Amino acid sequence: MKNVLVTGGAGFIGSNFIHYLQRTEPDVFIVNLDALTYAANPDNLCDLLDPNRYMFIAGSICDSELVDSIFFKYSIEVVVHFAAESHVDRSIHSPGQFVQTNIVGTFALLEAARQAWLVHRTVPPERARFHHVSTDEVYGSLGPGDAPFSEMTPYAPNSPYAASKASSDHLVRAYYHTYGLPVTITNCSNNYGPFQFPEKLIPLMILNALSGRSLPIYGDGKQIRDWLYVEDHCEAIWRVIERGRPGETYNIGGNNQPTNIQIVKEVCALLDALAADSGHAPHDKLCRSVADRPGHDRRYAMDISKICKDLGWVPKESLCSGLQKTVRWYLNHPNWVEKIADRPEYRSWLQKNYHTREAK
Ligand code: NAD
Ligand code: TYD
Repeated sequence: MKNVLVTGGAGFIGSNFIHYLQRTEPDVFIVNLDALTYAANPDNLCDLLDPNRYMFIAGSICDSELVDSIFFKYSIEVVVHFAAESHVDRSIHSPGQFVQTNIVGTFALLEAARQAWLVHRTVPPERARFHHVSTDEVYGSLGPGDAPFSEMTPYAPNSPYAASKASSDHLVRAYYHTYGLPVTITNCSNNYGPFQFPEKLIPLMILNALSGRSLPIYGDGKQIRDWLYVEDHCEAIWRVIERGRPGETYNIGGNNQPTNIQIVKEVCALLDALAADSGHAPHDKLCRSVADRPGHDRRYAMDISKICKDLGWVPKESLCSGLQKTVRWYLNHPNWVEKIADRPEYRSWLQKNYHTREAK
């Protein structure tokens, strides 16, 4: 058995990754360390394929004593580090928690790995890997004619979220160069798919549209993101862990760049077709332009030629097929949706982020 520590595995991408590993890697035992913040949802993991190859630990990556003990107790060979505060809008309201989790937490995890693998040699060095999951947002914002972000693009983070992720990327890189810790980093574009917390664009629009609430488009809605179906991201991460070179960074993306308004219209069209009886079709009549996000990045686009060429990974889903799967998933999981939508914390976030925006 290969013992893999997944951090943040009760969140969106982490839980998809755990399902992916259980399906594809019969010889992996997963330890999931998650602090169960507002973004976590234990329901995401209630129907695991093989619960005998899985263990959950409630705790923070910032708790060095706990993290140290996990490395020794479970002879961790691979770390897949997802745990983070991940929402740009929340980082604008409360940046402190982003510094704590994303920077200090990553530091605690790196130190624990260094102690266990390089000082105490808990596992053979050639079997160890620290994989850090990061974002395209560290590269800043592109103009209309700019080339897509490559692994050589200088960092220029614009939001507190992006700055905290950039900072953690630098720490991970430094642990490779200074100590020889076997690390890899992936910088990925916007994910969407099952289990995504409905504070992010796509699930927020699905839930709002189904309940007849307005669909808040920040600014002119012409901002551009590169969208990737979450399962493609999971496959790319595991590919990098298995075949990527220690010390390397790989960009991951979906090879598409629609505007936000195009994404929202596409979601509405899918709902018109698949949930015609919601009582709110045509759903795009609910679109509203609201006050823009401060410092809103205009355009992201990823050059994914390195991972394609070196590791043979390409996304399997197109934007069209991925969006269709996603909308169907939310429609087929009304209990999951209802439980999240009823959380007081979620309702207060909607109030906090949208009330003043919509008034402008
Ligand atoms: P998420 O917000 O859905 O989940 C984050 C998880 O981390 C939650 O389960 C939360 O409880 C946990 N967590 C938070 N603080 C913790 C702590 N101190 N200790 C342990 N666990 C903690 O995030 P996500 O969208 O799944 O993103 C996962 C990772 O992927 C993040 O590092 C994010 O920066 C990166 N990423 C996300 C996207 C995207 O589009 N969602 C794109 C590129 C990269
Ligand atoms: P989001 O899902 O928050 O991801 P990120 O900020 O990490 O890219 O937002 C995606 C895009 O959608 C971004 O340009 C902001 C925009 N957006 C809206 O227009 N309205 C919303 O209510 C939200 C949450 C996002």
